[in-house]
Amino acid sequence: MSIENDTADFPTVPDTTGGDGRSDAPILEARHLRKYFPLRGVKLFGSKSVVHAVEDTSLALYPGRALALVGESGSGKTTIARLLARLYEPTSGSILFREKPVQGSFGLKEYRRHVQLVFQDPFSSLNPVHDVRYHLGRPLRIHGHVRKSIQEREQILTLLRRVSLSPAEQFITKFPHQLSGGQRQRVAIARSLATRPNVLLADEPVSMLDVSIRLDVLNLLLRLKDEEHLALLFITHDIASARYFAEDTLVMYAGQSVEGGPSEEVIQQPRHPYTRLLISAAPDPERLGPDGQKAAPLPARGEIPSLIHPPSGCRFHPRCPHAMEICRQRFPGRTDLGGGHWTHCFLYGEGGTGQVG
Ligand SMILES: Nc1ncnc2c1ncn2[C@@H]1O[C@H](COP(=O)(O)OP(=O)(O)OP(=O)(O)O)[C@@H](O)[C@H]1O
Ligand code: SF4
Ligand SMILES: [Mg+2]
Repeated sequence: MSIENDTADFPTVPDTTGGDGRSDAPILEARHLRKYFPLRGVKLFGSKSVVHAVEDTSLALYPGRALALVGESGSGKTTIARLLARLYEPTSGSILFREKPVQGSFGLKEYRRHVQLVFQDPFSSLNPVHDVRYHLGRPLRIHGHVRKSIQEREQILTLLRRVSLSPAEQFITKFPHQLSGGQRQRVAIARSLATRPNVLLADEPVSMLDVSIRLDVLNLLLRLKDEEHLALLFITHDIASARYFAEDTLVMYAGQSVEGGPSEEVIQQPRHPYTRLLISAAPDPERLGPDGQKAAPLPARGEIPSLIHPPSGCRFHPRCPHAMEICRQRFPGRTDLGGGHWTHCFLYGEGGTGQVG
């Protein structure tokens, strides 16, 4: 099926915001997503090897809200973004857009108009042989937002102004090599906006930029989220930044979702030992220990495991100072901690003690 001709009608989002920017209905939802990558040609003991990249992960994105997806390298963050962008088919589980399941290639062009991915690397995401006009004009034309070239130029200039590239008339003729890293990422964001999306999936959008301009680009994404009521998935290694840039946080470890809820709760009152380790490794000057002093980093133990033969049960058990026998046997169910905060850890249910030193 041709992607270009493949359209489907998605129902419009019911207005459940009550005017305060919050919505009861997620615009995009993942339910029990699992993704295994078969490794071509690699066989161990006669069976094909697979990378167990994402296990049973659920999340929801709401208009005008950001969800930070946090975890170390290899925890499955990009795989989740690519599943949500429908660049990968899930091994199991489902994705719902405006409460309607999506699957296969049906409705893909229309879906991609609504759900846009911003890549980590602004250097490889723009084609070096094309200028800014081409990069922004193409999605406008493909999605039928312009018919005449005068309209196209006006809309490109508007897009450039929305991402604070001014004077826009000068940027429209520039080629990628004539732009700084931050300017390229702004062009990439403008390109995502050209389709008039409802959802932005931003995969470490500032990690390859100079430290001095990261905050500006993050603030741009936040402004767009608020002004245009975008649902934002904000992928980051840096859990401390999640508190400032996302209303909600989901912590992943080695493909398993381990803790989630309102960012303030997750970051100020982390429960899962892995979240605690992450936070202690990225100290936030405003976060204090129980004695009111700056919290000391926890000692880091062990390595991130292989996902071809991941540890059994809770994959964090080889590194966890609180691991019990049951942790090796199975993955704990979800424990709700109140106020939308939850975790998967035997310390908080299923026979655990609830005590963490
Ligand atoms: N196409 C693929 N084929 C095989 N394995 C893959 C593929 N894509 C990702 N993986 C593996 O899946 C796991 C999760 O990778 P992913 O890129 O989602 O992690 P990540 O959290 O985004 O890491 P990083 O922070 O380094 O970007 C890793 O073990 C990775 O090697
Ligand atoms: S389930 Fe067990 S191993 Fe996993 S984080 Fe909790 S205590 Fe540690
Ligand atoms: Mg990644």
